Amino acid sequence: MFTFISQLHVLRSAGIDVPSSCEVGGCGTCIVGVLAGTVDHRDFYLTEEEEQEQNNQLLSCVSRAREQYLLLDV
Ligand code: FES
Repeated sequence: MFTFISQLHVLRSAGIDVPSSCEVGGCGTCIVGVLAGTVDHRDFYLTEEEEQEQNNQLLSCVSRAREQYLLLDV
């Protein structure tokens, strides 16, 4: 059995307060900066350019790492 634990949940569990609203990738409230790593964007808020060319932010309620790590700017 697989249970998805969002980055938003992990950040909050570590005591980092990240605001949220929809928690389904639609509002942009939970956005955080990305310093390194490749993001698997699962939202429908960021534009394709923001996701592919800039690759410097993600929506923590739904997005994931494509590699073994992501370095977030929180
Ligand atoms: S809380 Fe709305 S996009 Fe994450």
